[in-house]
Amino acid sequence: MSDSVSTGDVCWAVIPAAGFGTRSLPWSKAVPKEMLPIVDVPAIQLIVEEAIAAGLKQIVVVTGRGKVAIEDHFDRAPELEAVLAAKGREALLERVIGPARDVEVVFVRQKEALGLGHAVLAAKAIVGTFPFAVLLPDDLIDNGEGPSGIRQLMDVFENRGGGCISVMEVAEGQQHLYGIVSGAADSAGMITVEAIVEKPSPSVAPSRSAVIGRYLLPAETWAILETTEKGHGGEIQLTDALAVLAQAGRLTGVPLRGVRHDIGNPLGFLEANLHYGLARPELGDKIRILLSQTMSEG
Ligand code: G1P
Repeated sequence: MSDSVSTGDVCWAVIPAAGFGTRSLPWSKAVPKEMLPIVDVPAIQLIVEEAIAAGLKQIVVVTGRGKVAIEDHFDRAPELEAVLAAKGREALLERVIGPARDVEVVFVRQKEALGLGHAVLAAKAIVGTFPFAVLLPDDLIDNGEGPSGIRQLMDVFENRGGGCISVMEVAEGQQHLYGIVSGAADSAGMITVEAIVEKPSPSVAPSRSAVIGRYLLPAETWAILETTEKGHGGEIQLTDALAVLAQAGRLTGVPLRGVRHDIGNPLGFLEANLHYGLARPELGDKIRILLSQTMSEG
């Protein structure tokens, strides 16, 4: 892999947000799961902020039916803004206006729920033939002051080209929840991926190296996705397109640095709220007291 590509070529972040959120039912029946609050910010706003902070300038969110709340969140809300202004709630007003003013978010619809690969492909007409980032909004990554989840991939991409994906060791028996990679790691831990398989049963999984929802993909991925057939679960899987890159020796697994929360399930969602809440100076101590009181109540 020597076709180094400047991360300056990567402008677009693709955020697939069309899924039903089956793991999050019933809460996600009428509310887009991407709008669930992490303390007081919708999860998808954290994802958008990660992309912008990494230097990605354009955001495309792939939505589907029942997801208009996401579009409203990144739009101005004149009536609400007028009420807040009249009440002198300047700080809150700024937080309400910010997502609409500071970020240009483009929306595209995935008209049928045919899988993650199909959802990503819906962004092709907007992104064009450029490398692009994909951030799955179920996966929140906190690396403190260090490079964010997507930034870590951009740094590797600049040197190695091809596709770069975040990977993390998961417990034995958990492989059926993830894309799983195998391949040799160099001294820096970078894995030249030889094989990648979507949600294998643990008994046949090639390793415990799981794909976490951050991807930096070369432009050739679009053509691969266009011919990717239905795979695991009868869906068009992004993982199967990545397998083609892997066969060509053009896929690097990048060990994730930082804490990852999967907010697509209730426990992960609660953990994420505690994690981000504890990090808030005005809330951390109050949450600690609340937790110890709740624990002592049994
Ligand atoms: C998706 C991908 C899977 C990846 C996972 C990371 O699965 O298909 O390869 O490991 O995200 O969160 P999902 O969790 O959306 O079913």
